[in-house]
Amino acid sequence: MASSHTPWRVVWITGASTGIGRTLALRMAGDGIIVAVSARSADKLNELAQQSPNIRAYPLDVTDEQAVAQTFATIEQEHGPVELAVLNAGVWHPMTASQYDLAKAKDSMTVNYFGVINALAPVMRAMIARGTGHIALVASVAGYRGLPKSAAYAPTKAALINLAEGLYADLKLKGVKMTVVNPGFVATPMTATNTFPMPFLVTEEVAVDAMYAGLKRGSFEIAFPTRMMLMMKTLRILPYSIYFWLNGKIASREPPDTPTA
Ligand SMILES: NC(=O)c1ccc[n+]([C@@H]2O[C@H](COP(=O)([O-])OP(=O)(O)OC[C@H]3O[C@@H](n4cnc5c(N)ncnc54)[C@H](OP(=O)(O)O)[C@@H]3O)[C@@H](O)[C@H]2O)c1
Repeated sequence: MASSHTPWRVVWITGASTGIGRTLALRMAGDGIIVAVSARSADKLNELAQQSPNIRAYPLDVTDEQAVAQTFATIEQEHGPVELAVLNAGVWHPMTASQYDLAKAKDSMTVNYFGVINALAPVMRAMIARGTGHIALVASVAGYRGLPKSAAYAPTKAALINLAEGLYADLKLKGVKMTVVNPGFVATPMTATNTFPMPFLVTEEVAVDAMYAGLKRGSFEIAFPTRMMLMMKTLRILPYSIYFWLNGKIASREPPDTPTA
């Protein structure tokens, strides 16, 4: 049974084998929520499910449209309605202009955007039919504006923010909440190999505190940490002349490019 202070009985989290998704799953399961966890690494999901009787593993590749729809149906058959879906699976391929790698750029959009809408479509359909539910898309503050090294990643997150904004009012009329989560830098396997400075880096635990509290409030946007969010929102409103001058400063601090093959 979910404890009295949690609004959901069943939650589905994609991208839960490591990082933010895994830590969120553990936190929610500790509060008595049944948490269905998905990602490709079945071994990691099974290990995670050993940590709590409330965690159930549903391995999948979010880019496989049919597998995603089938998994969602199976979770609902086995546990009842998914009341919150956290569509969190994502990949990060950093690259400068001279390193631009088309396959990795396409993979970014395939996982980060198409992987999300593969789940969003059946989840939204079920929640609209029930007249209740909550969907959270995990984007990034990198989606606010074009950024150096993020030519493959940031557009996928900008697309998610735009998608969430576009669906919010319509879903609200139908009883369904939409949230977009915009983390700054979080120390997870995704950022472990970054060689550049990561301002205001937070731990998974701090990220999940902010995310869980925002989800419980039902906020539209959950952006953290506050200083990173404010810095990125300020950059968003700067005129191009100043913005590109700052961008140039950041780009010139980087070591010389190694063009990819
Ligand atoms: N860390 C940060 O600084 C940061 C900042 C802003 C936004 N975010 C976003 O937060 C989300 C979680 O990232 P994280 O930092 O926790 O990174 P992470 O530890 O690398 O987790 C990414 C998760 O996505 C899963 N995944 C990747 N490709 C998948 C696929 N094709 N199908 C199913 N699952 C897939 C991975 O599992 P498998 O490899 O097992 O499939 C893993 O569970 C991502 O959307 C990321 O863009 C992170």
